[in-house]
Amino acid sequence: MTQTATPSRYTLTAALPYTNGPIHIGHLAGVYVPADIYARFLRGIGKDVIFICGSDEHGVAIPMKAKKEGVSPQVIIDKYHGIIKQAFSDFGISFDNYSRTSAAVHHETASDFFKKLYEQDDFIEEVTEQLYDSEAHQFLADRFVTGTCPKCGYEEAYGDQCENCGSSLNATDLINPKSTLSGSTPTLKRTKHWFLPLDRYESFLKEWIIEGHQSDWKPNVYGQCKSWIDDGLKPRAVTRDLDWGIPVPVADAEGKVLYVWFDAPIGYISSTKEWAEREEKDWEPYWKDENTRLLHFIGKDNIVFHCIIFPSMLKAHGDYVLPQNVPANEFLNLEGNKLSTSKNWAVWLHEYLEEFPDMQDVLRYVLTANAPETKDNDFTWKDFQARNNNELVAIFGNFINRVVVLTHKYYGGIIPEPNTLSEVDQQVLDALKGYPETLANSLNRYRFREASQELLNLARLGNKYLADAEPWKLIKTDEERVKTIMYVALQLAAGLAALSEPFLPFTSKKLKQILNTKKLSGEAEISWNSVSSQDVLIPSGHQINPAELLFRKIEDAEIQKQLDKLEATKQANAQMEKSVTPQKETITFDDFTKLDLRVGTILEAEKMPKANKLLVLKVDTGIDTRTIVSGIAESFKPEEIVGKKVTVLVNLAPRKLRGVESEGMILMTENAEGKLVFVNPDEETPENGATIN
Ligand code: 2FM
Ligand code: ZN
Repeated sequence: MTQTATPSRYTLTAALPYTNGPIHIGHLAGVYVPADIYARFLRGIGKDVIFICGSDEHGVAIPMKAKKEGVSPQVIIDKYHGIIKQAFSDFGISFDNYSRTSAAVHHETASDFFKKLYEQDDFIEEVTEQLYDSEAHQFLADRFVTGTCPKCGYEEAYGDQCENCGSSLNATDLINPKSTLSGSTPTLKRTKHWFLPLDRYESFLKEWIIEGHQSDWKPNVYGQCKSWIDDGLKPRAVTRDLDWGIPVPVADAEGKVLYVWFDAPIGYISSTKEWAEREEKDWEPYWKDENTRLLHFIGKDNIVFHCIIFPSMLKAHGDYVLPQNVPANEFLNLEGNKLSTSKNWAVWLHEYLEEFPDMQDVLRYVLTANAPETKDNDFTWKDFQARNNNELVAIFGNFINRVVVLTHKYYGGIIPEPNTLSEVDQQVLDALKGYPETLANSLNRYRFREASQELLNLARLGNKYLADAEPWKLIKTDEERVKTIMYVALQLAAGLAALSEPFLPFTSKKLKQILNTKKLSGEAEISWNSVSSQDVLIPSGHQINPAELLFRKIEDAEIQKQLDKLEATKQANAQMEKSVTPQKETITFDDFTKLDLRVGTILEAEKMPKANKLLVLKVDTGIDTRTIVSGIAESFKPEEIVGKKVTVLVNLAPRKLRGVESEGMILMTENAEGKLVFVNPDEETPENGATIN
């Protein structure tokens, strides 16, 4: 369906978080804060907007976590649904509805969606060979299986996706697959599934994304989509052999459920229905009217699902609008390392609030000012402290405090009557009027970092105005002029109260209380639109409340405490990693003799283009000179290893990695720092080709 230039309503969705753990600053920075800023902004300018989310409670991660903790999956989803919902509310994420995919309305909506596609013959029904764990008696897909990514060589790719290169995978694509349930190597077993033939949607996706969204989608999103489409799309299974999820709603499908990535995005629709039911509204225009602008806020690991698979589902269904944009962010790191739930390398939202109570806006601000919009970014506690102390306290807070304190000191808190405005006064007021448009320009291009800095510029403008005008000196000589200065400064403070709302909702509320804006006689409360449309935001004669600090300084000791906590986590992880990997199951002598290990020499080495981890090696094995692709690029520069003697497994079946056939494997181990080192044959070893046994 086509989109009109001026949408009459907006449907904003934020990725449904998995309920297998609490959420951390990475989630907030990547998805929920930008989405919330945009939702609040749209409401502020008077748009009809719904902001939708909920918990993603299916998929294999939930039963896996339940198994680990010895409880039922229901216990897990109830626990984390509660924790996550609370964290969002604590941080002012203003969803119009936060649902969950275990809700009846969702089961029904997802089932109906599947049935419609089934009845329209939009699926391919096929019996195929799937990976099977014969120890755990379970088919393996998605997170139940890991292995080497065929696209980039990352060794811990999951059965549905490689988190290193973002590729969407089928479990059978993995090289050297391993069951995460038992550690065993899976076998292949036949099973029936329903596939969404993505190849049928290629021309639609080409036209819609490649030709239609080159200029308005973020380059990271557009680039990923283009490369998937250019690579060619394959049918994708949308059902799984699992006992946790939404049962496949057709005959002859016992023991099968909908694939979590089939049901989860439909959760946006179900959550909208739940909202509409509660608010006594009609949900359909928010999903079906062509004047609705549908926007998905997600992290980069979700791009393929929201830009390729879900739109193909919506297109197949036929009744729905397509997303107008998918402003995906990159990832946030913490103190130089990847955020990791399993390594507890994270700042958990509930823990942050224990350490920094009532300082939600500080985190929102820092995560926005340093958002991973175009590349991965780093959160550091020092930067957090600096942005709080040097920006929020010294610029925003300082301006407001000066204005409010002086208004009380000179006029008992009553806004003075201005005299004739000087040229500078008029320039400042004109500049204020231009801010809503400046901010909107950034926000409408999803440039939240830029917008947050423009907001701060408004406070800077206020500080400069006061510093240049020096009312505290003039009060002794020209009281009438001071009235005008304070009047102008108070308009800026009111402007800040309105325009900071999407970014700093708690601060904006507090500032409005200080400025007593609810009591503005006969005037509507100050709003985003009033900043550009009204000459007077806060009139003479209006009484404001006493000053209160909007922000407080963060001391070095508080930051050190957080750094110490992370250091302790690092130590604990290092300790864990030191523990020796348990011995694998016993093999027979015959198994061992199947391995043909030889001494070899690396003759040439070069980086595999566009792969961070891979080197393409030419190795003299004594038998021949062959190509081996090795995942060692992060530990060695190509030039350092030319001439090295190595141990080579020469009779490993050849595999293609990034289009290059690899004929063997070099034996490696890891040193204490986690750097890969060669398992070198003794220096005395004379000849390439010597066997090792
Ligand atoms: O990556 C995730 O956390 C998924 N639970 C996101 C799902 S988004 C949507 F499709 F529901
Ligand atoms: Zn990969």
